[in-house]
Amino acid sequence: MIKFVPAQPAAVNINQIEVALSEIRNDAMSGWLDLPDNYDRDELANIKKAAQQIQNDSKFLVCIGIGGSYLGHKALIDALEKPSYTRVLYAGNSLSPRALNAVMQQIGDADFSVNVISKSGTTTEPAVAFRFFKEKLYKKYGKEGAAKRIYATTDAKQGALHGEAVQEGYTRFVVPDNIGGRFSVLTAVGLLPLAVAGADVDALLDGAKTEKDDYAREPNLGNVTAVQYAVTRSEYWKKKYDTEVMASFEPSLQYFEEWWKQLFGESEGKNHQGIFPASVVYTTDLHSLGQYMQDGRRNIFETMLEVEKVGEVDFAVPIIPGADVDGLKYLEDRKLSDINRIACMATMAAHRAGGIPVLEVIMPDLTERSLGALVYFFEYACALSAKLSGVNPFDQPGVEAYKTNMFGLLGKPVA
Ligand code: PA5
Repeated sequence: MIKFVPAQPAAVNINQIEVALSEIRNDAMSGWLDLPDNYDRDELANIKKAAQQIQNDSKFLVCIGIGGSYLGHKALIDALEKPSYTRVLYAGNSLSPRALNAVMQQIGDADFSVNVISKSGTTTEPAVAFRFFKEKLYKKYGKEGAAKRIYATTDAKQGALHGEAVQEGYTRFVVPDNIGGRFSVLTAVGLLPLAVAGADVDALLDGAKTEKDDYAREPNLGNVTAVQYAVTRSEYWKKKYDTEVMASFEPSLQYFEEWWKQLFGESEGKNHQGIFPASVVYTTDLHSLGQYMQDGRRNIFETMLEVEKVGEVDFAVPIIPGADVDGLKYLEDRKLSDINRIACMATMAAHRAGGIPVLEVIMPDLTERSLGALVYFFEYACALSAKLSGVNPFDQPGVEAYKTNMFGLLGKPVA
């Protein structure tokens, strides 16, 4: 379902890919690989039930989480742009009082619920934010009423959040042991907020399954699009391209790019190596980073994230009779989507001419099915790409350094 157009055909070494894929399969953190087939249907039914409850009793759902516990569902909710009475808000993804205040102000006196999401159940940013929203819930609904509005998505057995959820009787959802944060968007981590935001979560999982089945059906691994993308990245890395810029002409995909950056950055940036993942949204960023892309250091390759059919909403440039005062007569009655598409073609041609290899990842539309497939495509490619560069895709040891310093400075008692 997801198409991939490399700048030049990737030279796939089938043996090497087979070895890497078998290592991924045998890894204890490879649960996301078969998730579209193995999803716990009872859990899914409970997610839908909880989403219904939240839609009935809350104007806002505050999703508290950071990294993989936040970026995936924000990415998909933004891309889908579904109408829903309940708006999903985000907190606990920074320590900024201004950011916290903005969410608090937005809620005001309205009814709200909280989905606190932390696989480990011990991450500082969401844990701190949770305290503030708990206090607000207590004031509005009392302790018992608050507990009915708190949904905890965390480990099945351990962590401070798990302990609290059990003790206080919050509705609980599980992040499976064998799926890490940045690979978890198609678990309860993403599915509960997505269902509240009006997304068809069955279609999301079906989309991922279609992509997975397409790979399994393909007799030649070299034709699997995600394999081609992973191998292409690895080839550019070897040719000293150390930065990949993901670009899109669709502003609603900005957070998809953020999710992608985390997925690849945290999976590959190890042992002082790894392609640096960056992102832009065009045409906006053609007027800020466009100059660099066209003429700057040639260490970049660009991955254009394209959507064949963006949606039903479109506008034709208004026809205004009279003189051509704004010089736009030549665009009159042209569809905005068409102008955007042509801007994309023109940009790719310009960047290629300027010496930037441009890869294309093309999805049919912005539906749940296509987005589910796109998530699977990137997760598969990311795990493989990290393996090809000899690092463990599923850990993130480097994230501890700032925490250790911060805890020391804040005087956290040593356990
Ligand atoms: O991918 C990862 O594992 C991380 O980005 C985590 O998602 C992030 O650090 C948040 O962790 P947790 O869900 O345990 O609070």
